[in-house]
Amino acid sequence: MFDLHTHIIPGIDDGAENLEISKAMLELAVSHGTQGLAVTPHVVEGGWLPDWEEIVAGCTLLRKVSEESGYHLNIYPGAEVALNMDILNRITGPGPYCINGGSYLLTELPALEIPPYTEDFFFMLQARGITPILAHPERNPAVARNLERLEEWVRRGVLIQLNAPSLNGRLGKEVAATAEYLVTRGIVHVIGSDAHGINSRRPILSEAAQKLRALVGEAGYRRICLENPLKIIANETVELFMEVQAAAPSGWFSRLFSGKKNIR
Ligand SMILES: [Fe+2]
Repeated sequence: MFDLHTHIIPGIDDGAENLEISKAMLELAVSHGTQGLAVTPHVVEGGWLPDWEEIVAGCTLLRKVSEESGYHLNIYPGAEVALNMDILNRITGPGPYCINGGSYLLTELPALEIPPYTEDFFFMLQARGITPILAHPERNPAVARNLERLEEWVRRGVLIQLNAPSLNGRLGKEVAATAEYLVTRGIVHVIGSDAHGINSRRPILSEAAQKLRALVGEAGYRRICLENPLKIIANETVELFMEVQAAAPSGWFSRLFSGKKNIR
């Protein structure tokens, strides 16, 4: 499994506070079956603004720690860029801030709303040769109420990253229902732990992986947890819509979405 959304570089954002916590996070990831991960610290206009060189140096440090600990873990640099038009002064093309320095950029919406310039932001990135990966849209209530708009983004080439805890129901029934819906709709491309530490937001994908297997079968699980992440890391093309096996909807999905037609 590959985890494309983590905050493990020590002291760079609100993730790992120090190297000891970073080490413990790496150990936790490995012990739960993660083979590779991207370190994606926050990049926020007017807030956290680490240089790409700082992120790459943090990644190099974590690779060293991982090797010394005997872990078989691939670690790649990246960022989680808060959606904002001014940040485009820093992100001018593929390379810096993109996952593994390629052309895929993890970007997040504000917590509760969809800014009016969202489509323009995605378009501007794409015009510069960057493919946006939208981080955890299932957590945003404005997106959950407007899933047609989200699917239109995918149609236009935006990829979707789901948070593992969302699928597990840790963020409530509505979030879990949206997560499950997106998975069964075939528009979840990658999964991430969005880990910030070792207590509550931890770098563990294994539980969500089981849920994915139940929802979309072994092939769907492999696509989301292994094949698509490897393509992104290698800067190869990812299919926008995934054929999914019809699986019996369960849990949050059936309770909250049965009969609802809020997506085409
Ligand atoms: Fe994050």
